Amino acid sequence: MIALTLAEVAAAVEGQLTGDGELVVTGSVLVDSRALGPGDLFVALPGERVDGADFVPAAAAAGAVAALTTRPDPALPTVVVADPVQALGRLAAAVHRRLVEGGLVTVGITGSSGKTSTKDLLGQVLAAAGPTVSPQGSFNNDIGLPLTVLTADVATRALVLEMGARGPGHIARLCRIARPDVGVVLNVGSAHLGEFGSAEAIATSKGELVEALPAGGTAVLNADDPRVLGMAPRTAARVVTTGLGADADVRAVDVDLDEAARPRFTLVAGGEQHPVALQVVGEHQVANALSAAAAALAAGMTPADVAAALSAAGPRSRWRMEVTRRADGATVVNDAYNANPESMRAALAALVRLPGRRRIAVLGAMGELGPGAEAEHTRLGRDAVLAGVDVVVSVGPDAVGVHTGALAERSAGNGGEREDGLLDNVLHVPDREAARRLLTDQLRADDVVLVKASRSYGLELLAADLLGSDLLGAEGPNADGAAS
Ligand SMILES: Nc1ncnc2c1ncn2[C@@H]1O[C@H](COP(=O)(O)OP(=O)(O)OP(=O)(O)O)[C@@H](O)[C@H]1O
Ligand SMILES: [Mg+2]
Repeated sequence: MIALTLAEVAAAVEGQLTGDGELVVTGSVLVDSRALGPGDLFVALPGERVDGADFVPAAAAAGAVAALTTRPDPALPTVVVADPVQALGRLAAAVHRRLVEGGLVTVGITGSSGKTSTKDLLGQVLAAAGPTVSPQGSFNNDIGLPLTVLTADVATRALVLEMGARGPGHIARLCRIARPDVGVVLNVGSAHLGEFGSAEAIATSKGELVEALPAGGTAVLNADDPRVLGMAPRTAARVVTTGLGADADVRAVDVDLDEAARPRFTLVAGGEQHPVALQVVGEHQVANALSAAAAALAAGMTPADVAAALSAAGPRSRWRMEVTRRADGATVVNDAYNANPESMRAALAALVRLPGRRRIAVLGAMGELGPGAEAEHTRLGRDAVLAGVDVVVSVGPDAVGVHTGALAERSAGNGGEREDGLLDNVLHVPDREAARRLLTDQLRADDVVLVKASRSYGLELLAADLLGSDLLGAEGPNADGAAS
C-alpha cells in the first residue's frame, strides 16, 4: 500500500482515532492477524465464529502499527468504526483515487463463469507491459476487492479486479470502491440462479459494471452471449466486442485444441492477425483469452504483444482444470473449484478432448441453482453421456439427478458400450469416500478422470487423494467470497 498516516486512515474511513495520528502505516493492510508484520494495519473484521477485535493484542505482538476495529484497545493505536467492512472499502476507495491521479488503469471483470481464469490471463498479459496488481484466488467481494486495491502502490500501472455478485447492487458497490476504466463482462449463466431468481436478474446485476464506466472508458462485451451483448446500451463507454463471429472487434479464428486440450487460435484485432497458443486447458478459455486481449488492447498494448503474452501465460489458480499425470499413467483433472451448468459443460468438453483410454467424469452436485436444480442435474447427466464421456460417476445424494439423466441417455442407446473394469458405465456412489474407494480400485494407466462439483461438496479432496497429494498452498475455503 502507499504509506498513510493514521490521521489519513481515520479521515478516509470516517473513524475515531485513538493514538498518534502521525504514526505511519508503512506495510500492508491485512485482515488475518496471523499474517501481520511490522508496519502493517490490522483490519479486525467481525466473523461468524470469532471477532477480529479480540485479536488486536495479537496484532500488536506481531508488530502491526494500528488496528481498524470496532472498539478501542490498549494494545494498539486504533481507528474505531461501526462497520469494519465498509471502512475497508472506504480506505481502498481513498487509496484508489490517489493512484488514479498517478495514472493507474483499472480493469474490472465480471461474469458467471471464468472471472478468475480471465483475471489470471489478463494479469499476466498486462504484467508484460508494466507493474500490475491482480488478486489472488477469487478475491472478488466486499473484502477481497478492497484488500486487492490496497496492495497497489504508486509503481502499479495496471490493477485487475475480479467482481462477483450474489445480488443486485453488489457490483455497483464494488465499482464505487474502485471505478474501472475498462469493464469486462464474460457471460451470464446460472451461477447463483437460486439467489437471483432469473437469468435476466443476473444480467441486470452484471451490467452494473458497464454502467459504472466513464465515457472515456471501454466496455468489453462477449458478443457470443446475447445477454452480455445486450448490455451495450447501458454504458457511456466505448464498446468493444469479443467472440468467434465475424462481427466481433476482437475475435478468434482457426480455433483448435492441441494434444493436451490447450486452445490455439489466430487473434484478429485492430486489422492484425497473430497466432496464440494458450497454456491453459479447455476450449472455454478462448472466450476468456479474447476478453483478456480486448482489455489489454484497451489499456494500450499492441495486438502482437498481447498475443505473445497470452501464449506465455500459465495457469495461476488452483483446482481449475488442473491436469496431473500420475506415475502409473492415469491422469487426474481437478476442476473442483466450483460448478454450475455452464462450467460443467466446459469441463466435460475439455475432458473428452484429452487423450486417454477411458474418460471418466466424477461429478458432484451443483449448488445454489434454485427450483430448477433437479432438472439441471438430470440434464447434466444426459449431456455427459452425449459429450462422449465413457464413465459417469455421480457422487452424493444431491447428485442423484446426474445418475438418472446419464442412465436415461445410456438406455436411449447413446454413449459407448459397457467398458471392462468398471462395473457399469453409469454409477452412483453415496459419498466422496466411496468414490475414492471405487477409483482407487478401478483407475488404470491411460484413464483420464475429471473431478468436479460445487465447492461445498469438497471434491478437491478426492482429487488430492487420487494424486496422493495434500492441499497445502492451495486456496483456503475462505480465501474469497465465492460470489459470481
Ligand atoms: N468462459 C467460461 N465458460 C464456461 N465455463 C468456464 C469459463 N471459464 C472457466 N470456466 C469453468 O468455470 C470454473 C471456474 O472458473 P473461474 O474460477 O475462472 O470462475 P469464476 O467466475 O472466477 O468463479 P467464482 O464465481 O467462483 O469466483 C472452471 O474450473 C471452468 O470449469
Ligand atoms: Mg473467481
